[in-house]
Amino acid sequence: MSRVFLASRNPKKLAEMQRILAEHLPGIAVLGLDDVPAYDEPAETEPTFEGNARLKALAAVSATGLPSLADDSGICVDALNGMPGVLSARWAGLAEADGATKDRANNDLLLAQLSDVPDDRRTAQFRCSVVFARPTADGVAEDVVEGVMPGRVIRSMRGTGGFGYDVLFCADGYDVTTAELPADEKDAISHRGKALRAIAPVVARALSD
Ligand code: IMP
Repeated sequence: MSRVFLASRNPKKLAEMQRILAEHLPGIAVLGLDDVPAYDEPAETEPTFEGNARLKALAAVSATGLPSLADDSGICVDALNGMPGVLSARWAGLAEADGATKDRANNDLLLAQLSDVPDDRRTAQFRCSVVFARPTADGVAEDVVEGVMPGRVIRSMRGTGGFGYDVLFCADGYDVTTAELPADEKDAISHRGKALRAIAPVVARALSD
């Protein structure tokens, strides 16, 4: 069976990615970090989602030799000039805390920062860049895709699904947060779902060559 490696440390994000890819890459085994020998993952030092996804995908190829997918994603809030953006995961400065503690602190901070912003100026987008890198005879080949989910940041947290800022985000056309949507409905409209559905045929073609 062909194999592709998914370089992500966030268990909830990894579960989303594996769920979406399972549907679009039948017959291809999607491995996670637990399935490969441990390696030093790069710090996310680039100013763009694409740059950070590329760092992670190239590090994965050189450590494992496997065709590798990596994503970088976050929420870009218009009233904050596009922040937190690439800093979404560590917006409140708790990079080392567990997922739930970090998410709570990030969401509390975002709510405080937007407390004076009126409803019609609370627009935001979730963005996700995915890089697919694989070894070739000439070096490493790369493809990049992006997915965007536009919406708005509400005034209090709602829902128990998803992760991160989902409890504060209503996608355009929805009055429920992405944390209140069933997983498959979030996947159908999400930035990550769009990016992974765009890259899946590229992965399938590369692995069949
Ligand atoms: P990274 O891509 O691992 O650097 O982190 C992305 C961060 O952006 C996550 O830790 C979340 O805080 C936020 N984020 C990205 N995608 C989503 C999503 O689908 N829902 C909620 N938060 C997200």
